[in-house]
Amino acid sequence: MKTRITELFGVEHPIMQGGMHYVGFAELAAAVSNAGGVGIITGLTQRTPELLAKEIARCKEMTDKPFGVNLTFLPSVTPPDYPGYVKAIIDGGVKIVETAGNNTQKWLPALKEAGIRVIHKCTSVRHALKAEAIGCDAVSVDGFECGGHPGEDDVPNFILLPRAAEELKIPFLASGGMADGRSLVAALALGADGMNMGTRFIATKEAPVHENVKKAIVAASELDTRLVMRPLRNTERVLVNAGVERLLEKERALGANIKFEDIFNEVAGVYPKIMTEGDMDAGAWSCGMVAGLIHDIPTCKELIDRIMLEATDIIRGRLAGML
Ligand SMILES: Cc1cc2nc3c(=O)[nH]c(=O)nc-3n(C[C@H](O)[C@H](O)[C@H](O)COP(=O)(O)O)c2cc1C
Repeated sequence: MKTRITELFGVEHPIMQGGMHYVGFAELAAAVSNAGGVGIITGLTQRTPELLAKEIARCKEMTDKPFGVNLTFLPSVTPPDYPGYVKAIIDGGVKIVETAGNNTQKWLPALKEAGIRVIHKCTSVRHALKAEAIGCDAVSVDGFECGGHPGEDDVPNFILLPRAAEELKIPFLASGGMADGRSLVAALALGADGMNMGTRFIATKEAPVHENVKKAIVAASELDTRLVMRPLRNTERVLVNAGVERLLEKERALGANIKFEDIFNEVAGVYPKIMTEGDMDAGAWSCGMVAGLIHDIPTCKELIDRIMLEATDIIRGRLAGML
């Protein structure tokens, strides 16, 4: 399959693995890239630019295919060393960067000058248009169903993707709720040039997370995610658990007066407890509604091969047969 995304990134299949905190280590990025997709290392999971440089070097030992790094720009009182992370990416010879959050514009000139392709992840048409206007090469459009931060507009992909297609000139990936060959064909039909997956890639053999996390995703249905931190305008879609129920109870009790400090225990420092230790009730961790479509734990190659085969069968068989 050839799309504007396979051409842009020089990869075999139009499938990308989104940056994921404490999941996007070199093992997963390399496995996705070796399977013909775009694997992504999550920059900020590495605590310092030096550690990111090491992770990039480790990934290069595991694959000679293109892979990228996610840089998430969060509003913060004491921001991470972004100049250092950008330098580690450029010096490491990485050619793809997935940005998310605010202020990508500031870092774009340095990335572009280094010949890096930048794909910005956004949750609305207006942010996608902004990314296009400032010179991003592509965008990843995250619908309301996505795991992680869906924004505050709540537009699901059946509307968001065709709206993006109406407005954008640059290529874009459908993100949020994507799991299989059906997702890929639907995404292409709605105007996207490929798809980005988060939650689906956690439930793979190579994802370097605790087995409990993979089992929780397989066991979950499409009804098992919750939206947290909406009153703080920092909405996150997470898998329900005892910590999340506690958090939601506080949101109900405190209403509009809630502050980040009130939910600190349920959201801060949770990722290592969940992803590394497998303590599944530790608190809020991102997970998409797509968990309801995830029933197994294949290798990344098995998953991507299966998606491409299924997509081809749907296009050549089911759809062509209807004409
Ligand atoms: C556990 C987890 C952690 C994530 N961490 C990040 C992150 O650090 N930065 C980011 O830009 N997106 C992050 N995301 C969002 C994903 O990159 C992707 O956009 C999203 O998962 C797509 O929705 P899906 O889960 O329905 O496939 C995360 C998602 C998950 C499930």
